[in-house]
Amino acid sequence: MAKRKSTCNNSNMAFMQLSMIGLALVLLFEPGHAVDKSNFKTVDQCGFARRHKDIPEGQSPYAAVLDSFHIEADGVMRGNILNTKNGILLSLEVFGLEDRMVRFKVNELSPIRPRYEVPDVLVVEPTPIRWKINKQDSTSIEAATSSGITVLLSSEPFRMDFYDNKQLVFSINPRGLMKFEHQRERRKSVEDQDQPAEGGEEVDNVEPAVVEEQEQEELEEEPEEPDMWEETFKSHTDRKPYGPSSIGLDFSFPGFEHVYGIPEHADSLALKPTGPSDPYRLYNLDVFEYDLDKRMALYGSVPFMQAHNKERTVGLFWLNAAETYIDISSNTADKSVFGRMFDYVKGESDVPQVDTHWYSESGIIDTFLLFGPSPMDVLSQYTDLTGKPFLPPLFSIAYHQCRWNYNDEEDVKQVDANFDEHDIPCDVIWLDIEHTDGKRYLTWDNHKFPDPGRMLDHLAAKGRKMVTIVDPHVHRDNNYHMYKEGKDNDYFVHKQDGSEYEGWCWPGSSSYPDFTRKDVRDWWASRLSHDSYQGSRPNLFNWNDMNEPSVFNGPEVTMHKDVVHADGWEHRDVHNLYGLYFHMANAEGQIQRSGGTERPFTLSRAFYSGTQRYGAIWTGDNAAEWGHLKASNPMLLSIGLAGIPFIGADVGGFFKNPDEELLTRWYQAGAYQPFFRAHAHIDTKRREPWLLQPESKLIIRNAIRARYALLPFWYTLFHNSSQTGLPPMRPMWMEFPKDADTFSMEDQYMLGNALLVSPISDQGSRATSVYFPGNDPWFDVDTFFAYQGPATHNVNADLDKIPVFQHGGSIVPRKERVRRCSSLTVDDPYTLTVALNNAGSANGDLYIDDGHSFDYKQQKYIYRQFTFSANKLESRALSGAGFETNSWLERVVIIGLKSVPKKVELISQTITQLSFSTSHNRQVLTIRKPGVNIGQDWTIRLS
Ligand SMILES: *[C@@H]1O[C@H](CO)[C@@H](O)[C@H](O)[C@H]1NC(C)=O
Repeated sequence: MAKRKSTCNNSNMAFMQLSMIGLALVLLFEPGHAVDKSNFKTVDQCGFARRHKDIPEGQSPYAAVLDSFHIEADGVMRGNILNTKNGILLSLEVFGLEDRMVRFKVNELSPIRPRYEVPDVLVVEPTPIRWKINKQDSTSIEAATSSGITVLLSSEPFRMDFYDNKQLVFSINPRGLMKFEHQRERRKSVEDQDQPAEGGEEVDNVEPAVVEEQEQEELEEEPEEPDMWEETFKSHTDRKPYGPSSIGLDFSFPGFEHVYGIPEHADSLALKPTGPSDPYRLYNLDVFEYDLDKRMALYGSVPFMQAHNKERTVGLFWLNAAETYIDISSNTADKSVFGRMFDYVKGESDVPQVDTHWYSESGIIDTFLLFGPSPMDVLSQYTDLTGKPFLPPLFSIAYHQCRWNYNDEEDVKQVDANFDEHDIPCDVIWLDIEHTDGKRYLTWDNHKFPDPGRMLDHLAAKGRKMVTIVDPHVHRDNNYHMYKEGKDNDYFVHKQDGSEYEGWCWPGSSSYPDFTRKDVRDWWASRLSHDSYQGSRPNLFNWNDMNEPSVFNGPEVTMHKDVVHADGWEHRDVHNLYGLYFHMANAEGQIQRSGGTERPFTLSRAFYSGTQRYGAIWTGDNAAEWGHLKASNPMLLSIGLAGIPFIGADVGGFFKNPDEELLTRWYQAGAYQPFFRAHAHIDTKRREPWLLQPESKLIIRNAIRARYALLPFWYTLFHNSSQTGLPPMRPMWMEFPKDADTFSMEDQYMLGNALLVSPISDQGSRATSVYFPGNDPWFDVDTFFAYQGPATHNVNADLDKIPVFQHGGSIVPRKERVRRCSSLTVDDPYTLTVALNNAGSANGDLYIDDGHSFDYKQQKYIYRQFTFSANKLESRALSGAGFETNSWLERVVIIGLKSVPKKVELISQTITQLSFSTSHNRQVLTIRKPGVNIGQDWTIRLS
C-alpha cells in the first residue's frame, strides 16, 4: 500500500511536529504522480557504487598466492588472494558441493571487525565434496571434483574459470573488476577531524593482514573518498563508523546470450544490457507508483541469476543482504541495436557471452555456482540451498477480494453476500489498515468492527476466510500492548547512540522490532495466538505490508543504514533480510496458534531468497494501466525463476480507476497467475464485479469460475513446487529449453507442462498471435481447436475469451461444479481432459490432501499418475497413503482422437461398459460417469 495523507488525532506537541514533517513527506506521495525518482538514489548518488561502477577493465590488482593454496582435510580448497596495490590479504575458500554446485567465499584474512555473513537463508550448510588437484604450475592450479566440474585458478591477475565436462561455463573476475574494501581506521587527515570515528575507537589495535615481504613503501595509500565515512542523500546523513566495506566481482557466462532473474524489477523477463550508469539494483524499497521498464529497486530482492542457452542452464547466487547492484553487458547486444550488419565486422562465429558485474555495500563475497544442466535442475539446486516452497492451503490459491478498505462489519457482510447473490466464487475477504485501532496492528477499530469474532464466524459458516493486514512498524503509544511489551523488553532497533530508533509510518511515530532476533520473532509470533489477538479465529490469516521496511521520513523511504541491530550489525548489513524475517515471524505465529497442525497463509510485499518457505508475495502498488497489466507477466515469471512460486499482482491495478475492458482483461490474466487477488486504493471507485455492466460481470465471473475449475491442477502444481522448486507459472523456455524462439518470450507462458496461457494486455485487442512450440498439437481449452506447432498462429481473443491451450501429451484435472468457495468443492467429482500428442498418448498427475493441515507430511495424501497410451487410460498411485477422498471420476474428455472407439470399458474391481459421445468433427470423445473413486486404481479401455 502506498502512502497518502493520514489523519492525525494526537495533540502531543512532539508528535505534531513530526506530523508536520510527515505531512510534508506524505504530500510527496499523493496519488496521481508517477514515482518521484528524486526520492531514490541513482547509482551515481551512492558512494560505494561509484567506487565500483567505473573500475577500469583489465587492471586487476588482485593475485592468487598459489603457494598458499591447499586442499584441506574437509576437501575444500583454501588459499590467499593478495591485493598487490595495498598489500591486504584476503582468504579464498572454494567448496565443491554435491548435486553439481560450487561455492566460493572471499573474506578478509584478518579483519579488524568480523564481516556480516547472511544467516537463516540457507536451509543446510552444504557438505563439501573433495577437490583433486590435476595440475599445478607457477601460474595456475587446476582442480576437479568427482561430479565433472573443473576449476582453473589463475594467479596474476586472480581469476577462476569453471568448466563442466570441459566446457567453460563461468569465468570469475575475467575483466578484473574485483574490489574488496578492507576495514580500516579512519585517517585523521580527512575532514572533520574533531569527530573521532566511533568504529575506530572500539577496535583493538589489530592491523589488517598484509603480506610480510612486501615493502611498505611500495604500497599505495588508497585515496580516501569523502563518502567513505559519511554520506549524505537529500537531508539524510549516513554515518559510517566502520568506514568503507563494499565488495564486488565480475562474472562472465561464456556461450550464453540470455540471463534472467534477480527480481524485483518492473522490467523484461530476459534481462537487458544495462550500461554502468543504469545497473539493476537490489535494495528493498517502498516505491510509490513504480515506473515500468526500469532497473530501479522495488520491494523485494533475490540475488539469483540464471543463464540459459540451447545446451544448458546455469545459476549464480550471490548471498549478500546489503544494497546490491548488477551491471549486465553482452557481446551480442549491439547486434540487436544495429541489426545484423555488424555480423560481418564481428564475424558470425563469435561466441556469445554475457558479462555481469555485481557489487554490494558490505558483507563478504559468498557465491554459489549452479551447473544445472536443465532449467529444472537449476531450480532444484537453488531450492536445495534456500528451501523448497511451502505448500499453500487450498483456499489461498483460490480467489481473494481485497480493498483499502472494506469499511466495517456491515460492508464485509454485503460483499460476502454479493458474491453469493451473483454466483461468483470467492474464498477470502481482506481488510486493510483502516480496520485497526489507529494503525495499531493486531487490534480492531471497535466502532467499525465491534465484534470481529462474530464477523469471522459468519464468514466461516460460508466456508470463507479473512485476511487482516499486520505491518512491522509499531505505534509508539504506551497504552498499546505491542509497543509496551516491545519497549519493556528492548525489542526495537536502536540508533547509534543506543536510543530507540523512531520512524514515521502509518500510525505516525513508530518503532521497529528487530526481527533479525529470534526472541523478537518468537514474541511477535506469540502475539498472533487466539488468546492474544482479540477476536481472531482459525479462519483469520494475515498480510505483511511495508516490511521493506517502509519509513516515510527515512532515506529513500526506508530505514537509516546506520541503525543498529542485534550483535551490533548495522541495518546496512541486513537490510534486504528485514522483510523476510518479519514474514517468517508471522507465518510461524499462525502455525503456533494451531498447535502446529495447520498450514499458515501470509502475504508479504518485501522478500528475499528463502521467502518461498513462508508464504506468498505480490508486486506491490501497481496502477490500473494496460502497461502494468502487461508488466505483471514478466515480473511474476522473474520472481518464479528466483524460487518464489506463489506470486501475484493486484488485479485491476491498485492506483487509479480501470475502465471495464481493462478490469475484465485483468481478471482474465489474474485467473491464470499463481496468486489471484483483486485490490484497490482507498481513493478509487468501488469496483467489485457486480458493480460493472452485466456483460463485464459475466466475463469476470467466468474467469473466476475457470480458476476454480482448475484448482485441482493448480494444487497439484503447487505440490510439485514444494518438492522440486519449480514454479507453476513458467517461462516458455523452461519447458522448451532448446527452442531459441522462446528465450525472450514473456507475453505467453506455461502453467506446468500442460497449459499455455497468452493473456490479453492490449486495449481493444480482439486477436493475438501465439507461438506454439514443439511438434505436437495444442488445443484451445474452450473450442478444442488444434494448432500445430512449431508455428505462430493468430488466435481469437474476443472480450470473453482467454487464450489458453492444452499441450498434446498432457492430462489436466478439473472440478466443474460451481460453488461458493473452494472448501465446498472437497467432495466434488473430477473431469480429466486428455490431450493426445502425435503418438496418441498423454500423461498427467493429481495431488489431493485435506487442503489445510500438515498431515500430508505423514503421507496422508493421494498422488496419482494418469497415463494414456495404446487406447488405454490408466490411473496408478505414485505415493501417499492413509488419505481417502469421496470424489469420483465424473467425466473423461479425450481430444485429438484419430478414430472413434466402438466400446469404452472401465476396469476396476469389475468391468463396466461406459457411455460416450463424440463431438468436434469426431475429434473429441466424452466418456460419461466412470463413477470410480479418484483415489483408486482403474483403467479405461477404448476398443
Ligand atoms: C514435477 O513436475 C516435473 C515436470 O513438470 C516432473 O518431471 C516431476 O516428476 C514432477 N514432480 C513431482 C514431485 O510432482
